Amino acid sequence: MPVMGIDIGGTGIKGAPVDTEAGRLTHERVRLLTPEPSEPQAVIGVVREVLAQFPDADGPVGITFPGVIKNGIARSAANVDKSWIDLDVDALFTATLGRPVTMVNDADAAGVAEMRFGAGRGHKGTVLMLTFGTGIGSALFVDGRLVPNTELGHLELNGHEAEHRASAVARETHDLSWEKWSARVQDYLRHVEMLFSPSLVIIGGGISKKPEKFIPYLKIRADLVPATLHNDAGIVGAAMLVIDEGRLTAGG
Ligand code: BGC
Repeated sequence: MPVMGIDIGGTGIKGAPVDTEAGRLTHERVRLLTPEPSEPQAVIGVVREVLAQFPDADGPVGITFPGVIKNGIARSAANVDKSWIDLDVDALFTATLGRPVTMVNDADAAGVAEMRFGAGRGHKGTVLMLTFGTGIGSALFVDGRLVPNTELGHLELNGHEAEHRASAVARETHDLSWEKWSARVQDYLRHVEMLFSPSLVIIGGGISKKPEKFIPYLKIRADLVPATLHNDAGIVGAAMLVIDEGRLTAGG
């Protein structure tokens, strides 16, 4: 039975039913714009619209959120409305939508999907997934086990928050060529590598569909690969959360 996965991003809210055994969407996903301002009730309204497109998948839902989620509570909101902070989002979504909802950080969900079905499959040791979108998300794995809520997009890079300089949206806003943007990403990756010495770094987010634009400019000691589930990773990981909650939430 497919499970609904929803990915709440800074710009879009995407969802689809997922075959969690195969790690793929069973229908083409639906994408609606994230409301402005992205206040909780407005966002829940859009999530409801996405869910309404898939009336057959009417069971529990896994939903990603672009901020820290600890024990079902949102603890940060860098790229969405600040009123999310300290909300019990699991309880709020469950009550408002009338079905069980479990929420997880977006990069953590995407990372779990990539580790199970994508570029990280079978990798032991320290693996880092970085997602480049509105912000920079991170998911850190040690021998396949997630260390949740690492938030490495907020590391300082040359006096600025890394995601303000090197996210995919920063490339567009600052009108950077792929080469110029990659130079920023390269600085960032070197910094992250110095801190964690991963053996594999997976680059995710929408840009992972165009690896030829930036991978050739990036040189680190670790193996560096694009994600293979691309923009679907968050949806797949969110749905996996519903059937495999213990694994994702272990450690907090
Ligand atoms: C948030 C992270 C999120 C990332 C990608 C950052 O601004 O703090 O929690 O994973 O953006 O959306």
